[in-house]
This record gives sequence, C-alpha cells and structure tokens, in this order.
Amino acid sequence: MKLMVIGGGGREHEIIRKLKENPEVEKIWCLPGNGGIAQDAECVKIGAEDIEAQVAFAREHSVDYVVVAPDNPLALGAVDALEAAGFPCFGPRKNAAIIEASKAFSKDLMRKYHIPTAEYEIFTDPKKACDYIDAHDVPIVIKADGLALGKGVIIAQSHEEAKQAVHEMMEESKFGDAGSTIVIEEYLEGPEVSVLSFTDGKTLIPMVSSMDHKRAHDNDEGLNTGGMGAIAPNPFYTEEIAEESMRTIFMPTLEAMAAEGRPFKGCLYFSLMLTKNGPKVIEYNSRFGDPETQAVLPLLESDLLTIMKATTDGTLDQTEVKFSDKACCCVVVASDGYPLSYEKGNPITISEEAAPHVTVAGAQLKDGVLVNTGGRVLGVTAVADTLAEAVAQAYHYVEGVSFANAYCRRDIGQRALKCGEE
Ligand code: AMP
Ligand code: GLY
Repeated sequence: MKLMVIGGGGREHEIIRKLKENPEVEKIWCLPGNGGIAQDAECVKIGAEDIEAQVAFAREHSVDYVVVAPDNPLALGAVDALEAAGFPCFGPRKNAAIIEASKAFSKDLMRKYHIPTAEYEIFTDPKKACDYIDAHDVPIVIKADGLALGKGVIIAQSHEEAKQAVHEMMEESKFGDAGSTIVIEEYLEGPEVSVLSFTDGKTLIPMVSSMDHKRAHDNDEGLNTGGMGAIAPNPFYTEEIAEESMRTIFMPTLEAMAAEGRPFKGCLYFSLMLTKNGPKVIEYNSRFGDPETQAVLPLLESDLLTIMKATTDGTLDQTEVKFSDKACCCVVVASDGYPLSYEKGNPITISEEAAPHVTVAGAQLKDGVLVNTGGRVLGVTAVADTLAEAVAQAYHYVEGVSFANAYCRRDIGQRALKCGEE
C-alpha cells in the first residue's frame, strides 16, 4: 500500500507513525510534512491547500489511499477532487466539512435537530449584533463564522469588549471573510472534553476521550492557542456522560448530516462542555485535533489504516476499534512568545531516550539540522498505567529536548488529576 498524508504538523506525525504499524504499508508521502516527519515519511513540497498538485502527485505515484488531515483542504474540497480522480480518502467531502468550516451552519443544524448547544443568534449586520449584546448578560461569546486558526472566539467579560469584538470582526475584517458573519452565543460553564470519533456516515465509534489545554500559560492564563498539551482519557467524561452524549449529541449529529444530504465520513470531533444541564456542543471539527491526536492515537490498539479504510468503504460496523485502558499525556514544547511573535531558526536537540516520544510540528531541516520554524514546535508524549505516571514521564522526556527560547506549560494534566476534588 502506498499512502499519501496531507498536512504537516504534530497530528500528521502521530497519524503517520500509527499508519506505519500496518505491515502492508510500503510507502508514505507527506505533503508538505516537516523536518521531523521526514524521518518517518517522504516529505514532498506540495502545500496542504494545493489540491491540483496533490491530485497530480497521486496520479504520478499511483497512490492507494489518501489521508486528508487539516481543516483547510477539507473545506476546500480536497477529498472531492481526489475521489473524483479515483483515489479513496479518509476525511469528509466539502459539503460535510462545512460542519467545522461554518459555525453558522453548525449552530443552525443543532437548532433544527435539537442537539444541545449554547443559545445563539447569527448576525451579518454589526448594529443588530450590538443591540443583541446590549439585551444580554455577560460573559457572552462572539465567534467568527469561518475558519480562523482557533483564534476567532472571544469570551467577552463586558458589553464594551463584546462590541469591540464585533467591530474588529465585522468592520475591520480581522479574520478576513471568516468574520463577515458572526455567531453570538451564551457563555457555558463546566469542564471541557474533546471526543474524536471514527464514522462512515452510518456507524460512529467514539475514540477515548481527551482534554486539550488551549491557553498559552499555566492555570489557563494567557491567550488562546492551537493547544499546549492534551491528556487522555478525560476523567470528567464518565460512562454515564458518554452514554448521554452518544444518545443526545453524536448519533443525532450523524443522522442530521445524512438527512441534510451531507453524509459525514472520517473523523468527527465533538468539543463538549459538561454543563450542569448535561453535555453541550461547543463546536464540531471535521478532522483529528492537534494535540489531542498525539494523546489519543498512542492508546489505539487496533490497526489505524484498517479503521480509516472502513470509514471510506462504509464497513465500520464490522471493524474492531479498541483502545487500551492506559493513560496518555502530550506536552507541547513551543517557541516562547507563541501565539504572538517568536524567534525562529534555533537548532533543536532531542536525546535518544526522548526521540521515540517526540512528534514534530513546527520545525524544518536546515543544512541537516532540525530548527524551529513554528509556534508549536514539538509534542512530547508518554503512555503509562495511570494519568499521574503518564504526566510525570512526559515531563521527564521534555527534559530531553532543547532549543533556545523553548517554552512549555508545566501543568498539563493537573486539572484532570484533580477531578473529583472540584
Ligand atoms: P473553539 O475555537 O470554538 O474551540 O473555542 C475556543 C475555546 O473557547 C473553547 O475551547 C472554549 O474554552 C471557549 N468557548 C467557546 N465557546 C464557548 C461558550 N459558548 N462558552 C464558554 N466557552 C466557550
Ligand atoms: N486542539 C484543538 C483543535 O485541534 O482544534
């Protein structure tokens, strides 16, 4: 089997490592990949959004199966184009990827099908948005409709801040077209859970639950980032809540998408808030999360490629998806200053002991030396019998990686470890 993986972050690195466990895999190309992925796959200088070049490359190399990992190519129709050219893919088509690409779409879907989520209204007129804000209590949440690298969400603590967010999104186009339509919604409270699932459009199998750590600094302070670390399983997500989520959220969402003529295949990711009134959807993603993938896939005992192909073929109901009952922790090592400005080009060293535990996100090879080129640089992952051990081991391996101005949160997993005390 010859595989092509689209993307180039820590998530893709973990997916590739897992795909390589299948003995039938003879070759993996990663487009564009990165300096660390180059150890596990052949990286090709074709951008994740250059769909035409991806199709041409698949033709030229007789690729057997394609995994489209990031949100942008999915929203742009990479799966549609590759499938039309005869290449089976893991991932939703464009008409289903909209569940992430448009928050207005996903909120209206939830309203229509009675799927629990925050109360909301959609606006294309800033004046009406501000009137709505005046009529509601704070905190209140302002979201750009489109894809904004996880930065298009503002939790406003005052009416002024909320109106300022509306002004920046709608009148100053801070997020480009992504903010010309906005969603204003009710502020929800409770622990957050990420549940990634495999689905072929009819059957849905949740993966082990996880918890992201989105803020840049310890104790959930600082700016929102793509994610500074993740743990799995998430102890707040009990069996009862899992059962309720399956019944009130996961299956209704899958059925709603099918009823809308937008069957969803691939990884459907539910970001949930466990409120006093039950689990509610914060948002959907149409793909694996980053860094959740680095905490979830190491616990997968079944073969990833077999599962992925079953989502494409519609045979997931006949496929084993088994996770171990161990725990996993992934600590992201970032460039200090991320998500704002940071130094690039610093050489990275990784000890032999740490190397098998490291996934590479923002780094490239320069004259044969790995240097940091992105905000999130490395993910350091450990699996152990308990979460406490996994956290301790992950931080032990973090000691084995270094580069100038490296930064990581020191409290990944701490909230989960205190579950039950709150
Ligand atoms: P998102 O990019 O949509 O995942 O949102 C980023 C973060 O904003 C989430 O992980 C939540 O912590 C927070 N958030 C989003 N929507 C809400 C909401 N309605 N109430 C409270 N927090 C929210
Ligand atoms: N870690 C959150 C995401 O991948 O969207």
